[in-house]
Amino acid sequence: MKILINQLSMTHDYLNAILKNPTTRTPIWIMRQAGRYLPEYRATREKAGGFLGLCKNPEFACEVTMQPIDRFDLDAAILFSDILTIPDAMGLGLYFTEGVGPRFKKPLSTLKSIENLAKPNVESELKYVFDAVSLIKKDLNGKIPLIGFSGSPWTLAAYMVEGGTSKSFSKIKGLMYDNPKHLHMLLSTLSDTIIDYLNAQIEAGADSVMIFDSWGGLLSQGSFEEFSLYYMDKIINGLTRERNGVVIPVTLFTKGGSMWLEKIANTGCDAVALDWNVELGDAQSRIGNKVALQGNLDPSVLFASPDVIEKEVNKIMSQYKGETGHVFNLGHGITPDVDPDNVKALVDAVHNFDRKNNG
Ligand code: CP3
Repeated sequence: MKILINQLSMTHDYLNAILKNPTTRTPIWIMRQAGRYLPEYRATREKAGGFLGLCKNPEFACEVTMQPIDRFDLDAAILFSDILTIPDAMGLGLYFTEGVGPRFKKPLSTLKSIENLAKPNVESELKYVFDAVSLIKKDLNGKIPLIGFSGSPWTLAAYMVEGGTSKSFSKIKGLMYDNPKHLHMLLSTLSDTIIDYLNAQIEAGADSVMIFDSWGGLLSQGSFEEFSLYYMDKIINGLTRERNGVVIPVTLFTKGGSMWLEKIANTGCDAVALDWNVELGDAQSRIGNKVALQGNLDPSVLFASPDVIEKEVNKIMSQYKGETGHVFNLGHGITPDVDPDNVKALVDAVHNFDRKNNG
């Protein structure tokens, strides 16, 4: 059984839920909890001159990480950064255009550019991320744990080859079918970089890490295992899993991956994050007690009234059987047009749910 050897006096329900230790309540955090739906975030972003200005300045990154923590009774903080810091450090030139999303000045548009791609010196090129982790840890002062994160190799490769978001993903799919060796070369370089990146976050103080495989669901049955899962498994095996006798849990999130939950749970991760295409109760019966589960409210529920939010929360909460092993979250990121009062209603609904009476 996995235990937190160095139990702190404060309640760390988030870590305890993932490790299936006793909890005082079901913990909740929210994907993209620091973001544009918060007026204070928009104000800091303005000061920083844009989203990348926030990510690359540890003081600003720390400030926006703490904003949702100061406002809501959340059980974990997540590092404010982006999954695309790695391709940026590899020289692709990340930039953001309002309403368009992320783009690269130098996408991987030729086989030669893939052959020439080298693993960056993570310690120096991404120092601003690890500095942000240290600052946030200081600010949190042990109150709640800090989650570090990275994109999955497949998801990063998709952005790097497409040059940004895409509707058809024709370039990365074309590469996968025409030149799988080159894609494997790219995925392998990314995996080695991600291992260094996450281990440096852990060393700087991250208490758990999450891998976002946001585009895993684009893949077909066999190709998911070959081009995404294999590399996430490799990363998990390369991570520091304990710091000063304390377990550092790993959560995997494949958006659109509900048909592969058993396989994802078999990687050696501690928790699987679910999108809203699967029922939490079904996921639990499929996976059993192998790993903890995170999720999985449809983010659109936050457009409804507080009463409806509470009903939808209760539906999910009552599907989970057992006293620990569930981390409440949305099935994907919160959107910019959500009313912060509805987020408060969500957090309160989760914390007010009495599992003993309902479960
Ligand atoms: O969860 C958190 O609060 C931590 C911060 C975080 C951000 N991005 C901040 C962000 C995390 C964990 C991410 C991960 C990320 N980034 C993913 C994986 C998660 C997912 O959503 O599937 C992906 C695919 C990205 C790439 C990315 N970054 C996109 C597609 C966008 C544009 C989104 C949009 O709504 O415009 C971003 C920008 C981004 N990352 C924002 C934030 C708060 C919005 C930037 C802004 O202020 O304009």
